[in-house]
Amino acid sequence: MSASAAAPAGTLRWHFEDLNLQAVDREAVAARDDIFLLVCSASFIESGTDLYTRNLLEYFAGDDEFGDWLHRRWEPEELQHGRALRGYIEHVWPGFDWPAAYADFHAEYSALCTLDELEPTRGRELVARCMVEMGTTTYYQALNALCDEPVLRDLTWRIRSDEVQHYKQFYHQFLRYRRSESLGRGQVVAALWRRVAELRRSDADVALRHAAAWRWRDSPAPPALHDVRQQVFERMRTRYPVELAVRMIIKPLQLGPRLQRWAERPLSLLARHVLLH
Ligand SMILES: [Fe+2]
Ligand SMILES: [Fe+2]
Repeated sequence: MSASAAAPAGTLRWHFEDLNLQAVDREAVAARDDIFLLVCSASFIESGTDLYTRNLLEYFAGDDEFGDWLHRRWEPEELQHGRALRGYIEHVWPGFDWPAAYADFHAEYSALCTLDELEPTRGRELVARCMVEMGTTTYYQALNALCDEPVLRDLTWRIRSDEVQHYKQFYHQFLRYRRSESLGRGQVVAALWRRVAELRRSDADVALRHAAAWRWRDSPAPPALHDVRQQVFERMRTRYPVELAVRMIIKPLQLGPRLQRWAERPLSLLARHVLLH
């Protein structure tokens, strides 16, 4: 994979306005609590990207080319993901108070996004960023497979394609820093491991909790958070693109094409076993 050069910095590959929200089949989707929670929590995390951009720009100060990409390309794309997902939520569930729910989420989330959360070197942080983009790519791919409403399918696939490009760019930058920092495989594995272990808790958990709290805010008998989380996880895991996740996780190890192919199959089987049993 090489860095994306499909569009110059500052140019979005698509625009929120391209989506035809009037064509949404509201009947088909409004009763789906799982879709609401998955789309809503994603809209929160994407909309909070500005917190991370600030930290990353500070951390990579002096690397002008990369800083420019983060500022002019990555951040606007992530924020557009947040805007588009929010627009979808407000269109299908007009009674949901997105700004109020987001304010609650933001108050808790901003405390988690500190410089302390970053890896000790730039190269290792780029491994972590690759894992975040792997997480979002596979999340939107699973969500795309889970929903049958055409406008949401279109939106999730557009976002998924952006996330793949983000992964490629972070990977490209990782290769540069790997050389200058002489990063060994052990250090890469440590960074990979830390970030993959974190993916399932923290950010997604905070977002889901606030989405659920505001969704059933006035309900006399709101469902238990544990049950909500379990139900959403059950649905997603059956659609999760395990092979793609494994390929993206082990890529920074640079095993070479033959070894990578050899490692992918048993790791995919193992991951599938962990997910499905
Ligand atoms: Fe995104
Ligand atoms: Fe991304």
